Amino acid sequence: MKLSAALAVLVELKGCLQFGFVPTLRAILRSPILLLRPRAISRIFMNHVWSVYGDGIDANSRYVKEGLVSANAQGVVLDVGAGYGHTARYLDHAKVTKYIALEPNVLMHSEIRQRANAAGWTEGEGTLVILPYGAEDVATIMSALGGPHSVDTIISILSLCSVPDPKKTICMLVDLVLKPGGQLLFYEHVLSPRVDVGWWQQFWTPLWRHAMDGCCLDRPTHEWIKQMDVWSKGELWGLPDESEEHLWWHRVGKFVKAG
Ligand SMILES: C[S@@+](CC[C@H](N)C(=O)[O-])C[C@H]1O[C@@H](n2cnc3c(N)ncnc32)[C@H](O)[C@@H]1O
Repeated sequence: MKLSAALAVLVELKGCLQFGFVPTLRAILRSPILLLRPRAISRIFMNHVWSVYGDGIDANSRYVKEGLVSANAQGVVLDVGAGYGHTARYLDHAKVTKYIALEPNVLMHSEIRQRANAAGWTEGEGTLVILPYGAEDVATIMSALGGPHSVDTIISILSLCSVPDPKKTICMLVDLVLKPGGQLLFYEHVLSPRVDVGWWQQFWTPLWRHAMDGCCLDRPTHEWIKQMDVWSKGELWGLPDESEEHLWWHRVGKFVKAG
């Protein structure tokens, strides 16, 4: 593996620190009690980083999202880790009835509302719901949605890397929140099958995770999903131009729950 590819994390971290460090420090100086809440600090930092990088990452992955989300999402959609609500613009009003944005970082909610409203999803019309929970809070999510099996499409875009206990969380969301016949659509960076790339992903994860609100580079999320025995069908694919040495190596998937 090329050294430049192996050290790419340092370049990314430098960029994130450049934009996130000063505003996060200012927030701590304004409210020193934050020092007792490292997760809150991480979310402030992540919000500033996403305000700079979110639109560009969305633009670069537009073709993936059109093929995955616009083509398949339908009914009631649950967007796990909605971020700034970029997913909203890929939802087809002829097929989707409601956009539920699940985002535990409440600093991002105004951005979700703004992008969802611009795409025609509004709380006033009952087509937009913003939930401030983590994906692992499955019981709370179910209760907010009025009971089990209420969602037709679960979407996760670059979010399962940050969810605690992801294998269990995905199983519970699919088992309890997704309707029979519903689908899970995901676009995630995952553990590479290349041993050398995987080694570097594992090496960098402790550092990257602490800086980036829990984001892990070394999760075989696509394998966990594929191995679940609840699907009637499933497809997995990659990005055509992606280097095998990419530390953020992506897999895209569409899986349908048995009816
Ligand atoms: C890299 S961003 C992706 C945002 C969005 N899905 C997109 O593609 O534009 C990851 C998101 O996951 C959220 N997140 C972190 N921990 C989470 C958790 N436990 N449950 C759900 N979302 C979480 C973060 O707050 C962040 O908004």
